[in-house]
Amino acid sequence: MEKQEILRWLRTTGEDRLSRLWQMADQARRRHVGQDVHLRGLIEISNHCSRRCGYCGLNVHNSSIGRYRMTDDEIVACAHQASALGYGTVVMQAGEDPGIGKQWMHDLIRRIKRETDLAVTLSLGERPDEELCSWFDAGADRYLLRFETSRRSLYDSIHPPLAGTMSDRIALLRRLKLFGYEIGSGVMIGIPGQTYDDLATDILLFKELDLDMIGVGPFIPHQATPLGRPDQVAYAVPAEQVPNSEEMTYKVIALSRLLCLRANIPSTTALATINSESGRELGLSRGANVVMPNVTPGAYRALYEIYPSKACVDETAADFGSGLVRRIRSMGRTIGRGRGDSPNLSGRK
Ligand code: 5AD
Repeated sequence: MEKQEILRWLRTTGEDRLSRLWQMADQARRRHVGQDVHLRGLIEISNHCSRRCGYCGLNVHNSSIGRYRMTDDEIVACAHQASALGYGTVVMQAGEDPGIGKQWMHDLIRRIKRETDLAVTLSLGERPDEELCSWFDAGADRYLLRFETSRRSLYDSIHPPLAGTMSDRIALLRRLKLFGYEIGSGVMIGIPGQTYDDLATDILLFKELDLDMIGVGPFIPHQATPLGRPDQVAYAVPAEQVPNSEEMTYKVIALSRLLCLRANIPSTTALATINSESGRELGLSRGANVVMPNVTPGAYRALYEIYPSKACVDETAADFGSGLVRRIRSMGRTIGRGRGDSPNLSGRK
C-alpha cells in the first residue's frame, strides 16, 4: 500500500465506505494471525518517571499523584496470577524510573522465567543499551517502545529532552531488534499538531521497522500535563489536524494490519477508555488480535494514571479476565494458548 492510498483511507468518512476497510483488515487478520486472541497480563511496576513528556500524567512535574514502585515479591506474585489466569505473557511497564536498577531488573526477570513459563515483555522507556542487553540475557523476550510520532519536530515539541541526552526511539528500536528482542512500537492518534501526512508516514514506518507488535491508541488529554491544557499553552493547530477519535483509531489499527500482516496488534486500553461498551471488541474485529488485561494490584492501578479515567481501574484481574474471555468467545474467536510469539519473528530468525 502506497502513502497516497493510506492517506485516502485516513480521510475517508462514512460507515458504508469504511466497512470495506474493516472487512479487509479482519480478513487479513484471520488469514495471517488466525482466530486466537492472545492475552498479556500487564503489570504497572512503577509510576516514577524522570521525563517531562507533554502528554503523560506520570511526567516528573506532576506532583498531584502518589508515586509507587512495586517490590520484586509483589511483581512475581502478579506474574503467578497472570499464569494462573492462563495468560502466556507478562508485560512489565513503568515510567522511566531510575530507581529500577539494572541488576534488580535482571534478577527479577530471571526469577519470573525460573518460576513460570511466561514470555516476558518489557516496556520501561529509553534505557541504556547495557541494561537492555543485560535484561535480554536474563530472559526478557520482547520490548515495547512507542515512537509516538515519526515527525522529529513534533516529537521534540512533546518530549523535552533530559539534560545531556538525545532521544531517538526509532534508532533504539532498531538496536533492540539487533539485541534479539521481539520489538513493538506505535503512536498516539490525534496528538495536537499531528497531521494526516504525519500519521501516514508513521504507518509506513511500522512496516519499515518490521515491527512484531503494534500498539496504537487515541491521545487522551490529561489535565496535569501541558498538552492537556491547550488554553494555557499555545499550540498551532495544523489545517489537517488528526482527530483523537475512536474511528481514526480503528482506521490506524486496520491499516497497520494491512501493512504488517503478521504483527501482533492489541486492542488497547485507551480504546476501551473512549468506548467502554465495545471499543475492545471493535478493535479486535478491525485488525487487532491481542488484549492486555491489567493485573496490577488495585491500590497501585489507580496511581498509574498516564491519562484520566483509564478503563478497568476498578475491576479485579480475575473478574475482568473472565468477562473478557466470554466476550472474545462470543465473537467466535479463541483464546491463544502459550506464549503467542509474533509469527513475524519466525520469519526473521
Ligand atoms: N493519552 C493517550 N495515550 C497516552 N500515553 C501516554 N500518555 C497518554 C495520553 N495522555 C501512551 C503513550 C505511551 C504509552 C505507554 O501510553 O503512547 O507510549
